Amino acid sequence: MICTFELNDEETKFVEDYMRDFGETSLADMAKRFLLEDVADSRAADAAWKEYEEDPVTYSHEEVGRMLGIFSEMEEVYAKVFGSECEAEKFFSPGRVNLIGEHTDHEGGYVFPCAITFGIYALAAKRPGNTLRMYSMNFDSESDSAFEIAFDDVHEKLTGSRSWVNYPLGIVSTLKKHGYNFDSGIDILYSGNLPDGAGLSSSAAIEVLTAKIFSELLALNIDGVKAALYSQEAENNFVGMHCGIMDQFAVSMARKNHAVLLNCSTLDYSHIPLELGDSRIIITNSNVPHSLVGSEYNLRREQCESALNDIRKVKDISCLCDLSPDEFMKVSGAIHDPVTLKRARHAVYENARALKAADALRAGDLITFGKLMNDSHVSLRDDYEVTVPEIDTLVNLEWNTPGVLGSRMTGGGFGGCTVSIVKNDAIDSFIQNVGAEYTRLTGRTASFYTVDTSDGAGRI
Ligand code: GLA
Repeated sequence: MICTFELNDEETKFVEDYMRDFGETSLADMAKRFLLEDVADSRAADAAWKEYEEDPVTYSHEEVGRMLGIFSEMEEVYAKVFGSECEAEKFFSPGRVNLIGEHTDHEGGYVFPCAITFGIYALAAKRPGNTLRMYSMNFDSESDSAFEIAFDDVHEKLTGSRSWVNYPLGIVSTLKKHGYNFDSGIDILYSGNLPDGAGLSSSAAIEVLTAKIFSELLALNIDGVKAALYSQEAENNFVGMHCGIMDQFAVSMARKNHAVLLNCSTLDYSHIPLELGDSRIIITNSNVPHSLVGSEYNLRREQCESALNDIRKVKDISCLCDLSPDEFMKVSGAIHDPVTLKRARHAVYENARALKAADALRAGDLITFGKLMNDSHVSLRDDYEVTVPEIDTLVNLEWNTPGVLGSRMTGGGFGGCTVSIVKNDAIDSFIQNVGAEYTRLTGRTASFYTVDTSDGAGRI
């Protein structure tokens, strides 16, 4: 929870006294001291957190975790659930937001996501034996005991109340399939602060996190690209969601203050500095829960596949995004079904937009970048048809708010979040106006997140 309240006179004096006592002149430095002294839940630390929000670059995930009181709480739970003193190591895996290049990854195109500071923390340790024990502070609060399973017993997806375990189990199963051996048991405690079902890749975050924990603790030497590929494989074959590589790649390979331009055919990638000048990225959660397993996501993939098969009758291509928009115009007559034609058109044009957007960002041209985001939304709404009325309402409101350079739905669709680039001095009124109008028009409450970027998953 991010605290943004104003301090009253008494509280201000309290913080100032502390600062004087410690000889600190900056609230950010005072925040660091609070972190180190582990007084994360005091009002003063909350005030420091507010300053952190304005100057986030100086803090590591470990410090942020301390500041939010995450680790002290996790250590307590760890000792209770796993019955041992906590000698576990700390890990973090971010969520991601895709800036542009939506539904292009599964068509061999470009995507342009960045990782965010919201994500999943883990404490993990080796233990004698051959079982995996896991506990999630988000999903298991009703239970005092961990979920435990022998590595040998991991074969297929489990049904039942602890369905979240399928993501880590998918990693175990995938690693086994690739010939990795586990010479020790492992305990993992997870605690996340990614909003649930918001399309910010909590699934990819827990998969990549688990892959990296296994790699580090058992010295499996899985590099970042492999961790992403194994995680995608786990999601495709174990969980049953036929996602592309974008989410897992972003979560594994992202770099702070950069977005990743990834060619999903070749996995060639570059980190492009995310220089937004006097603007920031705002994620707006429609709070319409999005679930991709069992949604029309898999159907969209099939429709693109069918368009690809039609085009192959007249042109030799390996994926839809091999085509430029001009080339597509020449061969699109080969697609007979008007719906599949629209799906394919989205993939081809969105791919071209992602490349243009990356060029615009490199050139510091945020106006063009924002316009491309808007065009992307229109295409996802009209051609790919993965938006819902609430998301279109939000984006319309955002387009009509002063200080907004661009807005679009982000992620798989069917609910979830929008992403906007907003001028700093317009952020407060953006949150106020979009929030109020959204509630008036839909009866729902939106949540807003001002985004800071993050490095990819790993030990912290
Ligand atoms: C989901 C999938 C990704 C990608 C996006 C849409 O997030 O997991 O692979 O296809 O949707 O761009």
